Amino acid sequence: RHHVLSLADFTPEEYNTVLQTAASFREVLSRRTKKVPTLQGQVVANLFFEPSTRTRSSFELAAKRLSADTLNFAASTSSLTKGETILDTAKTYLAMGTDMMVIRHREAGVPQAIASEMDRLGVRVGVLNAGDGQHEHPSQALLDLFTICTLIDPDRPRLELLKDKKIAIVGDILHSRVARSNIWSLTASGAEVHLAAPPTLLPQLFAEFVTDTPGKLFLHWQVEPALQDADFVMTLRLQKERMTQYLLPSLREYHQHFGITRNRLRICQSDVKVLHPGPVNRGVEISSDLMDDPQFSLIQTQVTSGVAVRMALLYLMGSSKA
Ligand code: CP
Repeated sequence: RHHVLSLADFTPEEYNTVLQTAASFREVLSRRTKKVPTLQGQVVANLFFEPSTRTRSSFELAAKRLSADTLNFAASTSSLTKGETILDTAKTYLAMGTDMMVIRHREAGVPQAIASEMDRLGVRVGVLNAGDGQHEHPSQALLDLFTICTLIDPDRPRLELLKDKKIAIVGDILHSRVARSNIWSLTASGAEVHLAAPPTLLPQLFAEFVTDTPGKLFLHWQVEPALQDADFVMTLRLQKERMTQYLLPSLREYHQHFGITRNRLRICQSDVKVLHPGPVNRGVEISSDLMDDPQFSLIQTQVTSGVAVRMALLYLMGSSKA
């Protein structure tokens, strides 16, 4: 495929190709030079219409490690502020010779719209979804998958390693594009995926989505059934910026009932690990001490994995142009 927009139609072979390619780039990143000439002469444009710290920086670093040239765009300092449209912005970057576009936007569907426009124009420009509204965040779910799989088998990360594992996803599922992408990848692996949130953040409506998912997916409106015997716990940020006043819970009450703490992890497997895509509201969805505890927390490892996984995505998309 020359676009990566969603994980809904990813095949097990594609997951394993990304995981194995990322493992080889992790080896490159452990060397002194950390760089390969693979994408020399290619241009990667990071078009972020919504703020980001880790996704934007790690795509930029990944492109640079592959020797591509990078263009970084920030909406607030661009000609969008003068009324230029998103598609005209993308076409402007195309005219400069961009080979791949990494797109983030607060509205679902923008990366898809840009990919369709590139296809309509008949140009082989790869579009990567770096997070669109509440829809999907495929590279985040792939780096989460890589983080978990390499913990189990550092040399040969593969989808099958998660078969029969129990994974809890706890937090603001309603607004989470990370949860949606993770649901596709984790259910494809054969893991048991348990979602837990207050009813306002995990509406019954979500059950319709569940019936479309081939794997084992369960919904809970209390946290304990999701945590019981879990191997991995993914915590999600309360996305206050996307909530109406009606949806926003009291943060203290949320932490009391759903916040992940060392004490709450006692009912999980003894070697349970905790993930969070970031940015974190410390002391809300996860306690501050747990976040920093290397016995449990994979949060920094997720960020490190992000560079190798994004190198793999850019490399595989770059190769598909040939
Ligand atoms: N996880 C994630 O997407 O973080 P950023 O918003 O900082 O990119």
